[in-house]
Amino acid sequence: MSADQSPLEIKGLRKSYGSFEAVKGVSFDVRPGEIFGLLGPNGAGKTSIISVVVTLERPSAGQALVFGQDVQVNPRYTKSVIGYVPQEIINHGFFNVEEILSFYSGYFGKRKNQDRMEWILQRLQLWEHRKKKVKQLSGGMKRRLLIAKALVHEPKLLLLDEPTAGVDIELRCSLWDFVVELKKMGVTILLTTHYLEEAEKLCDRVAIIHQGELRCVGETHGLIHELTQRQVVVVLKSELKPIRHPLLVAQREHELEFRLPASMAVGELLLELGLDMAVVQDLRISEGSLEDAFQCIVGEKS
Ligand SMILES: Nc1ncnc2c1ncn2[C@@H]1O[C@H](COP(=O)(O)OP(=O)(O)OP(=O)(O)O)[C@@H](O)[C@H]1O
Ligand SMILES: [Mg+2]
Repeated sequence: MSADQSPLEIKGLRKSYGSFEAVKGVSFDVRPGEIFGLLGPNGAGKTSIISVVVTLERPSAGQALVFGQDVQVNPRYTKSVIGYVPQEIINHGFFNVEEILSFYSGYFGKRKNQDRMEWILQRLQLWEHRKKKVKQLSGGMKRRLLIAKALVHEPKLLLLDEPTAGVDIELRCSLWDFVVELKKMGVTILLTTHYLEEAEKLCDRVAIIHQGELRCVGETHGLIHELTQRQVVVVLKSELKPIRHPLLVAQREHELEFRLPASMAVGELLLELGLDMAVVQDLRISEGSLEDAFQCIVGEKS
């Protein structure tokens, strides 16, 4: 496995359930050491893609390669380097937290793994619950147990399918901090989430999937810049008579509000307006968000 080998390549992937095509020829690469967000509305096809990567489902066409290995051809190897947190909570009945982690660690040939298990349990705030049986855990604790389980065998690629669903806000933040820590340790992470504000802070790159198709993929902030408009509010010292401009979205008593495409500089707008600078009190500029970019992609044609 070389340092620049892509941890995950999805090539022309299709997945049908009967006559319904849930994934319609999707291709993208995940780069070494990045946090990659696979985003899309409910039913877009995210879990279907991940299910193929972890060999829970067979592709109808195309391939998923993990560190260069086709998951269908070499599933033992690819599963050993992947940590997978499923979207659905699976109940492990009567085992306690510690037993489950020991079992998974042993399964991947790591029997004397006590230090790592303790570190993971501490880090996921499960240490004091380690003797509890799964049925005694709350929903949020069960989800953290799934994350712990995915990490015991030191995977190089972590797939997190909605890891923070049902987790309260404080724990959500600490989970995302943990994801960043794992990234610093060299783990490559692909995650799905419906919390776009959090994805915007966390993800180096994102792909947006809609109705089984890849609609865009790229650097998170590059995409936001490309797909959204900036809001520019010109605050005035005194009220102006109504003005006309194609980019004006609102005129209030002391404010003019514009939406600017990425290609247009604010200075250009001010020149076009021909305002006397003596009447300008302030300028407020806000960049678009990943949520805006998402709406721009998913809102159309849906
Ligand atoms: N086992 C299955 N049999 C039939 N249809 C399925 C199956 N699994 C998923 N689907 C369908 O495939 C489509 C994509 O589902 P998928 O679970 O991949 O979406 P998702 O992007 O993960 O959505 P969510 O954000 O709700 O988790 C949906 O229309 C879903 O109903
Ligand atoms: Mg899903």
